[in-house]
Amino acid sequence: MKNSLKKFSLENRVAIITGGAGLLGVQHAEAIAEAGGIPVLWDINKDVSKVAAKISRDYKVSSLGMIVDITNHESIEKIFYQVLDKVGRIDILINNAANDPKVKSSKHISWSRFENYTLDQWNKDIAVGLTGAFLCSQVIGNFMAEKNNGVILNISSDLSIISPDQRLYKKEELKESKQPVKPVTYSVVKHGLTGLTRYLSTYWADKNIRVNSISPGGVYTDQPDEFVKKITKLIPLGRMANLDEYKAAIIFLCSDTSSYMTGSNLVIDGGRSIW
Ligand SMILES: NC(=O)c1ccc[n+]([C@@H]2O[C@H](COP(=O)([O-])OP(=O)(O)OC[C@H]3O[C@@H](n4cnc5c(N)ncnc54)[C@H](O)[C@@H]3O)[C@@H](O)[C@H]2O)c1
Repeated sequence: MKNSLKKFSLENRVAIITGGAGLLGVQHAEAIAEAGGIPVLWDINKDVSKVAAKISRDYKVSSLGMIVDITNHESIEKIFYQVLDKVGRIDILINNAANDPKVKSSKHISWSRFENYTLDQWNKDIAVGLTGAFLCSQVIGNFMAEKNNGVILNISSDLSIISPDQRLYKKEELKESKQPVKPVTYSVVKHGLTGLTRYLSTYWADKNIRVNSISPGGVYTDQPDEFVKKITKLIPLGRMANLDEYKAAIIFLCSDTSSYMTGSNLVIDGGRSIW
């Protein structure tokens, strides 16, 4: 193999992936496994061990699935030390978990509208998407800093650089108070991750920890035709992303191939944010 291709290898490197049992979390874990690494899936979803077991079988690696609430500092510390006991090292943290409350309208009002958004829901969304990334980076990043080695990758969104286009969610038959919208927290969490990425990339630059983010566009998962038609018109490549189209970028940003990259945000959105 040529030298530059060898740099894509994640042979024996251990990667913790938060929200590892979710739609994209599984893809990230598979990408790590494909490159020879050991994915450790963290999720509040009880099925996380089953998901990890499937990855172990499919990719012939010893993947781990662990139940962790990333909004809870004690839970993170406890489970992180279990990871170290079991696999003995940590190389990569992928902060992937986030709430993405479904944009639906209730009978009388739309709960997702800014004027109706409850403090309770705001706190829950910030707790997972932003506080969770902060706590995991603090616990795991500090350990990496002591070892003078590590990669942190924050999974952001095209909505870290553009505002949601609320016309995508508009239902012609509904009056304004009932119109569903993309919640404010999604934008705030994703813009916040940009700040966390930039902050940590300089904070730990002298500890050999690289910190980057990726901003994916929406993945096609059988959304209603009307929505797909509208969003497609906003994307120069004329389609939503396929589920596996972020895997190569994950390997790139987690491996030595990106050794001179830190503090960056890799935008993979079919060109949506250019228009
Ligand atoms: N799916 C997309 O089209 C898309 C597009 C752009 C960005 N993203 C981003 O990618 C990431 C993953 O998205 P997804 O579509 O896989 O979402 P998902 O909802 O399928 O997965 C999120 C996972 O996080 C877990 N989780 C929630 N709260 C947690 C907590 N407190 N502790 C531990 N785990 C918790 C959930 O159980 C779930 O398995 C998110 O950050 C999302 O914003 C997704």
